[in-house]
Amino acid sequence: KNKINIAIDGPAAAGKSTISKRVAEKLGYVYIDTGAMYRAVTLHVLNTGKGVADNLDDVDIRFSNDENRSIYLNGNDVSAEIRSPEVTANVSEISSLKMVREYLVQMQRIIAAEKGVVMDGRDIGTTVLPEAELKIYMKASPEIRAERRLEEERERGVDVDLSTLIQQIIRRDDLDMTREISPLKKADDAILLDTSHMSIEEVESTIIRMAEEVL
Ligand code: C5P
Repeated sequence: KNKINIAIDGPAAAGKSTISKRVAEKLGYVYIDTGAMYRAVTLHVLNTGKGVADNLDDVDIRFSNDENRSIYLNGNDVSAEIRSPEVTANVSEISSLKMVREYLVQMQRIIAAEKGVVMDGRDIGTTVLPEAELKIYMKASPEIRAERRLEEERERGVDVDLSTLIQQIIRRDDLDMTREISPLKKADDAILLDTSHMSIEEVESTIIRMAEEVL
């Protein structure tokens, strides 16, 4: 069977990573969370306090090959740290920098070169993998996305309120959709999937069906 690449884009907390992980597992593909890569660069900047433009050469980012898909920054597992409120609050600004995008997009293209990749992010269908055989743009209302995120945070023992989460999500989407370089946008040939009233299982099986049609 021929392998394809699947691009999954959409706004914050739309469920992209949960779904992408499951789809990749089902197909025996590799899951790549590009948001985690931007978060790792942001963590590096926050930790070192250095300007990004001149020090990307000493930023080494890797994923573990196991099902956890842990992310390593210069040899350290930073999977938990990149989800901190501080990183989340700063990631859109760092992600808007040309140097950062060029560096990570190049890495992402190399990873996807052999096909069999499910990659989620903001600009995968438009910029990173414009030739991807299947492109999905996932959307859901800010309220529903915030509710899903709230449940996740509570499971992790983090105490946040819904209105704060809604505001954070709207702010991050706004920054990501209005930046100059490869803003968040549905690719013309991406399939729009409104997951507002779909369960995780329904979204997963819908995408698997679409992938099987292309395969
Ligand atoms: O997917 P996640 O919410 O973890 O992404 C964090 C941030 O990384 C996004 O809000 C966006 O600013 C940036 N990002 C990006 N391009 C991608 C993936 C993420 O600019 N392909």
